[in-house]
Amino acid sequence: MAKTTPTLIAILLFSLLILGKSHTFSRNLSQKELKREKLTHLHFYFHDILSSNHPTAVQVIKAASTTYSTSPIGFGSVVVMDDPLTLGPEPNSKEVGRAQGIYTAAQRIVPGLLMVLNFAFTEGKYNGSSLSVLGRNTVLSAVREMPVIGGSGIFRFSRGYALARTYWSNVTTGNAVVEYNVYVFHY
Ligand SMILES: *[C@@H]1O[C@H](CO)[C@@H](O)[C@H](O)[C@H]1NC(C)=O
Ligand SMILES: *[C@@H]1O[C@H](CO)[C@@H](O)[C@H](O)[C@H]1NC(C)=O
Ligand SMILES: *[C@@H]1O[C@H](CO)[C@@H](O)[C@H](O)[C@H]1NC(C)=O
Repeated sequence: MAKTTPTLIAILLFSLLILGKSHTFSRNLSQKELKREKLTHLHFYFHDILSSNHPTAVQVIKAASTTYSTSPIGFGSVVVMDDPLTLGPEPNSKEVGRAQGIYTAAQRIVPGLLMVLNFAFTEGKYNGSSLSVLGRNTVLSAVREMPVIGGSGIFRFSRGYALARTYWSNVTTGNAVVEYNVYVFHY
């Protein structure tokens, strides 16, 4: 018996290995594996700083016809951002995440941006989770609404919307602090 036990274990492990190798492309999950959907409201301030020794947003492309006489971000320009998200509007307020992505001036006459970004959160249980936003941002409007089209981590299966309101801005530098209220369904 003492001799057969290791052999049996070896056979068992070997068969588990073989079973593990059987590939399944898809399976249906049971209702028990589904969690209840939640609605979460997030509130934070977004700091977009173009003019400083340490800008958080940098222009990477502009069209030959883009002029700076009226706005530092003209039609056809593309900006990459890694903007701090904070609890309050002050620059030294507690950071809760970053807004990482691009925005491009996609409207010719009045300022209108195409926003493609991820909110990458670092606060508490949200640390490591992200939300993906793809939307239109007419920056001079009092409130701009952008769809939240997905997320990761806590925000898997997310969908929702983000409301942006300019808290403070400087048209000369293009710097702005924007208040965000984000509402998302997730599991
Ligand atoms: C998944 O569910 C569908 C619809 O009930 C069924 O037709 C299908 O055979 C199931 N697939 C598997 C892998 O069980
Ligand atoms: C977030 O998670 C990372 C990786 O686990 C960790 O290094 C970092 O300290 C965490 N940040 C906060 C603010 O908890
Ligand atoms: C905007 O920024 C410019 C350049 O730094 C500065 O001269 C000006 O006073 C600022 N305007 C406001 C309203 O803060």
